[in-house]
Amino acid sequence: MSILVTGGAGYIGSHTCIELLNAGHEIVVLDNFLNSKPESLKRISEITGKNFKFYDVDLLDYSAIESVFLENGIVAVIHFAGLKAVGESVSMPLRYYNNNIVGTLNLCRVMEKYGVYNLVFSSSATVYGFQEQVPLSEDLPLQATNPYGRTKLMIEEILQDLYASNQNWSIALLRYFNPVGAHCSGQIGEDPNGIPNNLVPYITQVAVGTLPELKVFGGDYQTHDGTGVRDYIHVVDLAEGHLKALVNVMGNSGIKAYNLGTGIGYSVLDMIRAFEQVIGRPIPYRIVNRRPGDVSISFADASKANEELNWNANKGLDEMCRDSWRWQVNYPNGFEKEYEKISAVNQL
Ligand code: WQD
Repeated sequence: MSILVTGGAGYIGSHTCIELLNAGHEIVVLDNFLNSKPESLKRISEITGKNFKFYDVDLLDYSAIESVFLENGIVAVIHFAGLKAVGESVSMPLRYYNNNIVGTLNLCRVMEKYGVYNLVFSSSATVYGFQEQVPLSEDLPLQATNPYGRTKLMIEEILQDLYASNQNWSIALLRYFNPVGAHCSGQIGEDPNGIPNNLVPYITQVAVGTLPELKVFGGDYQTHDGTGVRDYIHVVDLAEGHLKALVNVMGNSGIKAYNLGTGIGYSVLDMIRAFEQVIGRPIPYRIVNRRPGDVSISFADASKANEELNWNANKGLDEMCRDSWRWQVNYPNGFEKEYEKISAVNQL
């Protein structure tokens, strides 16, 4: 009885694998290592003391996915695998639609063929697009504003149609706000390819000296200090939300969306100050023009997940910063080890 974790070597996937193993689940990881390194899987095994199978598989390879189901007793899937850079999706929309949509269609077709109907899907708050009001609740009209966000929205709609066609499906759509932080061991964390797009890895690379200064995108938003406000959530809180969603889908049928956020908004300047407290020195930054496509304020109404999944985000901003910083200091170049071709199936 295994849980298949697609994209299990990635940032949120690897943290979720740790929580799954610690909770006694048997897992099988599927990853093509496009946005991750096999080293992260070795670290999961070291941190938990547990072994698990993984497959170097691309979701665009239908028969390879089928082999995973034939060789393992999969009872549920947590689906993280997908491209996720907003800016890149604008310049390469076909790559994003092909990878994220076709990959998910292949996965769902194999799941249906083998009678596996329990699915936790990694969605995103980006499906809310520009909204007049905050906090954001699940019943708001959805409106993605970039190809990446549209892939998430389209997949949510595909899964709604899938459930409407066959009520055996039991699906949780988890809309993440802004995942940050790292496992307290400092052995795994966010490992962006190249220059980070997201705020926190950019701050930690400035703080550790890899990058010269932080550019603050916009100082004229209608917020308490003029800079953008977001709902930053510790990646371990987020991982625990997946375990609660897994329990929920395993016992039910239906399809439901849940916001996974703290319900607290922090500005860019708030984040800079919080990191300066942790590292004990100033972080150089300069306020520049707004980044196209950014919303001014985004934070969650997480009450539905609190009530229905019995889940709450517990880790505060200080812990998010300390855990991010520990990972950055331990591994300034991330997982470093470049990708060595490994056989398709490895036992860790
Ligand atoms: C946060 C704030 C920026 C970088 C994105 C995706 C979203 C999700 C999370 C996948 C904003 C400001 C940032 C910098 C800055 N990913 N900023 N200087 O844009 O809220 O969400 O990542 O699901 O889908 O859209 O996150 O970290 O890029 O930005 O001032 O160098 O930091 O303007 O206010 P965002 P972010």
